[in-house]
Amino acid sequence: MKTLLVGYKVSDLTNKMLEGEVAVHTLDIYHYHSIKKIFKRDRVICSPHIPDEPWDLIKFRTGPKLMSGELALDLLQEIANTGAKWELDYVGRERDRNELLDKVRDRKRQRVFRAEWEASLPGGPKLKLCSYPGCFCHRRGDEGGLALAEVVGRELKASGIERPKLLDMGCGSGMVGLLVNSVVKCDLTLIDSHTRAIEAAQENMKNLGAEGKTVLSDNGTDETGFDVFAGNPPYYSDYRIAEVFLDTARRCLKKGGACYTVVKNAENLRPVQERYFPQVETINRRGYAILKSYA
Ligand SMILES: C[S@@+](CC[C@H](N)C(=O)[O-])C[C@H]1O[C@@H](n2cnc3c(N)ncnc32)[C@H](O)[C@@H]1O
Repeated sequence: MKTLLVGYKVSDLTNKMLEGEVAVHTLDIYHYHSIKKIFKRDRVICSPHIPDEPWDLIKFRTGPKLMSGELALDLLQEIANTGAKWELDYVGRERDRNELLDKVRDRKRQRVFRAEWEASLPGGPKLKLCSYPGCFCHRRGDEGGLALAEVVGRELKASGIERPKLLDMGCGSGMVGLLVNSVVKCDLTLIDSHTRAIEAAQENMKNLGAEGKTVLSDNGTDETGFDVFAGNPPYYSDYRIAEVFLDTARRCLKKGGACYTVVKNAENLRPVQERYFPQVETINRRGYAILKSYA
């Protein structure tokens, strides 16, 4: 019985659940590493879509507190389209569970979840960007990301550096790096831990003719020599992920390179950033604080 588990985090799994021919699917490379580390499994699959294999059974764990409704419906539609038998492990109200099931049982109505939206910097061209459910800020640009792009774009333009090497960590659909690139041509490296973010970022880079690469990683990169680091980290888990971002910035920037992070409240991130860089300057924009340091 070839079984695939979808939507399960490491804390949901037990050795018993993984007995036999069981594979685990995850969208995020951080969850992939966590599951591999604890359960020492060969069959952990990290991909933006349900892997196309002849599964006998797919078990899908979802609920309003676990993922967005759009991502749940998108994944469930993909699962139903495999033709395999499937089971829903729903964490939430019965009424919401039935609503999700009704939507996906209407097989004649195949929904398209890819979204296109526009973003631009002052004085720059309008960029058409795409995103998918699971991407941070699906269907629109994030205000914090826009604030970060505006400050980095403006300062990089003023610096006169030719074709700077820019690292956009936690890139999501790539909006920050691509907006900066629209006003100063860069050699871009876009990093994210989420496969759907990387899928969207790759597509956006290609559609906009941007130069550079995307990297699926939860631990930055070993590449060095960057002129600029831009990061809009997630701020859950006590700044643990913000620290991974800042550690990457410190390792990857060339001497004199600039690190920019964005946060709602500067006072929370400032002491963390000061552990990685000797000085931190605050630039306010759109109700956000951009924290700038030099390597
Ligand atoms: C607040 S969003 C920012 C997205 C985009 N840069 C923007 O400003 O709209 C944070 C992003 O960081 C990614 N992320 C979380 N942990 C990460 C890690 N350890 N390494 C790389 N990216 C990570 C998330 O998947 C998400 O896309």
